[in-house]
Amino acid sequence: MKKFFVSLVLFASFFKARADEGMWLPMLLGKQVYADMVKRGLKLTAEQLYAINKSSIKDAIIIFGGGCTGEIVSNQGLIFTNHHCGYAAIASASSVADNYLKDGFYAANKDQEIETTLTVQFLDKIVDVTSEVEAGLKGLSWEERTKKLADVFQTITDKVADKENGKAGRIYSMFKDNQYIMYVYQTYRDIRLVGTPPESIGKFGGDTDNWEWPRHTGDFSVFRVYAAKDGKPAAFSKENSPLKPKYHLPVSIKGFKEGDFAMIYGYPGSTNRYETSYGIKLKIDLENPALVALRDMRLKNMYAEMVKDPAVKLKLASSYAGIANYWKFFDGESKQLLKFNTYATKQAYEQKFSAWAKGKTEYEKIMSDYSKNYTAWTPYSKHRQYLREGILGSPLGAFASSLIGLEAAMVKTGATGADIKKAADAANSQRNAFLQSEDKPSDVKILAAVAFAFYKDIDKSQHPIGFYEKLKAAYGDPREEASYKKWAEAVFANTIIFNDAKWNAFIASPDANVLQADPAFDFSASFVKNYNTKYASLFTVFTNKNNELGRSYVKGIMEMNPAAVNKMYPDANSSMRVSYGNVKSYKPRDAAFYDYVTTSKGVLEKYKPNDYEYDLPLKQLELFKKKDFGQYIDKAKNDLVIGFITTNDITGGNSGSPVINANGHLIGLAFDGNYEALSHKIEFDKDLNRTINVDIRYVLWCIDKLGGASNIINELTLIK
Ligand code: ARG
Repeated sequence: MKKFFVSLVLFASFFKARADEGMWLPMLLGKQVYADMVKRGLKLTAEQLYAINKSSIKDAIIIFGGGCTGEIVSNQGLIFTNHHCGYAAIASASSVADNYLKDGFYAANKDQEIETTLTVQFLDKIVDVTSEVEAGLKGLSWEERTKKLADVFQTITDKVADKENGKAGRIYSMFKDNQYIMYVYQTYRDIRLVGTPPESIGKFGGDTDNWEWPRHTGDFSVFRVYAAKDGKPAAFSKENSPLKPKYHLPVSIKGFKEGDFAMIYGYPGSTNRYETSYGIKLKIDLENPALVALRDMRLKNMYAEMVKDPAVKLKLASSYAGIANYWKFFDGESKQLLKFNTYATKQAYEQKFSAWAKGKTEYEKIMSDYSKNYTAWTPYSKHRQYLREGILGSPLGAFASSLIGLEAAMVKTGATGADIKKAADAANSQRNAFLQSEDKPSDVKILAAVAFAFYKDIDKSQHPIGFYEKLKAAYGDPREEASYKKWAEAVFANTIIFNDAKWNAFIASPDANVLQADPAFDFSASFVKNYNTKYASLFTVFTNKNNELGRSYVKGIMEMNPAAVNKMYPDANSSMRVSYGNVKSYKPRDAAFYDYVTTSKGVLEKYKPNDYEYDLPLKQLELFKKKDFGQYIDKAKNDLVIGFITTNDITGGNSGSPVINANGHLIGLAFDGNYEALSHKIEFDKDLNRTINVDIRYVLWCIDKLGGASNIINELTLIK
C-alpha cells in the first residue's frame, strides 16, 4: 500500500513539474489539458476556450502581419499587439518631421488613423487532414513524397470554400510529418495604425534589456481592422468601416497576484523539442557562433550610422531590430544549452531509445543514420551560414544576388524580348525598394568585412573559383583587411546599381555582358552560384534525410511511451496554440531572486537622460514622480505595475499575444522570453522558463494618462 502511494505521488509530481510546458492545439484542449487548466485556476468552460459554431476566445486572436500575434479588444475591430510587431509600420508611417517612432502617436478619431500595408488573419476552423494527405502520398518513397507534398496540400486547400471572402487553408505538418492539420484563415487587408507610445517607452531598454527580466518596456501598439460595409475583407478604402468582430477580449484592470492562472493564445513560430544531440552539437559548434559573429559585425556598422542621423535611424531601424533580436537569441541559446548540458541529456535519451529500438527494423538504425547524415553535411555548414548571414547580409550583396534571375532570363536559349523585359522591369522595381532602404556608409564596410571573413574562415577548397585571385590582382593581398576596403569602395563607386544613368540604359536594353561585368553582381553571383552548384544539393539531401529520420524518430517515441501520447504536443510551426501556467517569480542563479512584477520605481532607476536605450518622455517622469497612476494603480503595491512574468511556454511569433486570466480577461501582452531559459526552442526549462509580459494597466496608462487618448480607453470593455 505504501509503495503504491509513493509511486502515485512520483507520477503526479512528474506531470506537475512538466505542467507548464506545452503549446497545445486549441481544438484538443478539452481532450488533453482542460481538466488540469481548471485545477490550476481556470474558470471558463472548454467551449469558451475554443468552439466552431459559436464565438469563443479563439475568435479574438489574430495573426498580425508576417510573424506576430494580435488580439481584438473592442467591438470596433481595435487591435492590441506589441510595439516591436508594429515597428516596421510605425517607422514607415514616420518621417523626420512627423516622427511617430520617436515621439509616439494617437489618432484622436478614426479619420486620423493611418493606412498601412499590414494584413491580419482570423482563424475560421481547424481540420485534421492526415488521411487525405496520406492517401495522396501512398506508396511513394521519401524523396517522391517530399516532391509531391506541396501539390497534395494544394489539392486539399483548393477545396476550401469562400475564397472571394479572403478564406484560405494552410496545412501544417505536426509531430514531424506524423500528422497534418489544416487551419482555415480569413485575411483582412485594411489595417490602420491607431496609436503607439514613443520608442523610448515601446522599446525602453533596447537591445541591452532584450531577452531579459527584470524588464520595464511598454511593448505595445494599437491598430484597427477595417472591412467593406458588408463586413467582408477589402483593400484600403475611405469607404470601409471598422470590422465588427465575432468576439473581443474584455480588459481587466483589477490586477493579479503571484500564483494566479495565466493562459496565452498565439502563433508560436518554431521549436524543435525533438532535436537530436547531433543537431545540438552542430548548432553549438558551428551554426550559432558563425551567425552571432557575422551579425555582430553588421550591427556595429549599422549602429555607427544610425546614432549620427535620425533619417538613417528611421531607414535602418526595423532591419536593425530584426538582426539584433536573433543575434542575441542565438548567442544566449548556445550559452543556455551548454549550461543545461542539453547535449548530454539528449544523448542519454537517444541511448535509451536505441536500446528500445534494438531488433525493430523500422527504428533500430535511426541514430546511426542521424550520425552519418550529420557527418556528411558538417564540413559545409559554416559555408552556408557565411553565405546567408555574410555575403547576403550585405544589403548590396543581397540585392545584387537577386539579379541572378534577370541574368538567367537573358541567357536562356529561346528567351523572348517580352520575357527579358518582364524580368528587367521586376529588377527595376526591386532596385527602387532597395535604394530606399540602402545606407551606403554602413554597407560599404559590411561588404568589405564579409568578403574578408569568408576568405579567412571558410575552407579554401570551398571558395568560389577566381574571385579572390581577381581581388588580389587589383586590390592587394587577400590576407590583408586593407585590400577589402579598397575593393568594396571600388564596387560601390563602379556598380551600375548606384548609377541611375547606367542602370536606366541597362534596363532599357538589357545586356548580359553589362550585368556580368558589374562588380557588385560579379561578387554576389560568384558566391551564390558556387554554393548553388556545389553545395545546395548536399544541403537538400541532408534536410530530406533529417526529415525522414525525424518522422520515424517521433513515431518511435510515441510507440515507446504509449501512455504519454495524450500528453504530447507538436512543435511550434506558426499554427495557433494555447499555453497555460501561473504568474511566478524565480531564482535566476545562486543567491539571486527575481520578483514577478516590475514597477514604475524600476523605470526611474533605469532612466538615463538622452541615452539611446534608456531615455524617457519628460511628461512620464513628471507623472511617475507625482505617482499619478489613476485607475491603473496596483493597490497592493501602491505603484504602477509595468511588466510581469508567467511560466507559460511560448516562443517567437507569440509576440503580441494576449495574457488572459482565469476569467477570460486580458491582463497583459506577452513580448519576450527570459535569458536564463533561451534554450527554450530545444528544451523547456521547468524551473527557469518565463514569459515576459507588459501589464495591460501600464499599456492603458500610457494611452490614457500620457497619450491623452481616452477615445481608445472608452472603446474597451473594462473590468474594474
Ligand atoms: N525578443 C523579443 C522577441 O522576439 C523582441 C523584442 C524586441 N525588442 C528589442 N529590444 N529588440 O520576440
